[in-house]
Amino acid sequence: LSVLKIRASLLDWYDENQRVLPWRKKATSIDQTEEEEETCKRAYAVWVSEIMLQQTRVATVIDYYNRWMDKWPSLHHLAQATQEEVNEMWAGLGYYRRARFLLEGAKMVVDGGGEFPRTVPQLLKVRGIGDYTAGAIASIAFNESVPVVDGNVVRVIARLKAITANPKESETIKSFWKLAGQLVDPCRPGDLNQALMELGATVCTVTSPSCSSCPISEQCHAYSLSKSSESVQVVDY
Ligand code: ADE
Repeated sequence: LSVLKIRASLLDWYDENQRVLPWRKKATSIDQTEEEEETCKRAYAVWVSEIMLQQTRVATVIDYYNRWMDKWPSLHHLAQATQEEVNEMWAGLGYYRRARFLLEGAKMVVDGGGEFPRTVPQLLKVRGIGDYTAGAIASIAFNESVPVVDGNVVRVIARLKAITANPKESETIKSFWKLAGQLVDPCRPGDLNQALMELGATVCTVTSPSCSSCPISEQCHAYSLSKSSESVQVVDY
């Protein structure tokens, strides 16, 4: 029951409070063929933005993302690019391996017939796509009911469940993926995942969480412990 309440509260909060970001533009078409096209465009947009966001702050990514999309509006456009062009576009973002893999990944998908992979196992075969990016693309673009775990999600779940285990250990990481998998909303997996990331980025922050504006504080173990005398040291992540 509590999981249903948590999902509903997170989704309501996300609907009201999500930041307006260029890669979040919603598809508007009703026509079936157009819808399929929109979905693949969205998958490409999610791919590019999530790769950029991996080591870079949202505020910095926005300009890079918009310039990238102007130059290469689709996967097919990107697959025609050269490594030099891509590096030039990436200049300043750092971790250039991300840019190289993005180009290699685009070529792989286009060379393989151009059909966008849509499940996690298919996505994991693409160059540069790991668990995080696969989960993000599958859930946000293709509505697959799969979790996404990044640093923000780890922190939110750790507090929600008052988990004290070391989040750097692989066993602990595995348990976070499992817990995140239980939280994913089967109807709106992408929004639920983004709500968790967004909550961690804007409300449930590392040093000063705003519990008074948190939609799930009632269900949060760390919050309830913090109000009692038995306050625990929950993971700092
Ligand atoms: N950080 C990285 N990807 C994100 C997303 N899709 N929503 C919110 N925060 C994010």
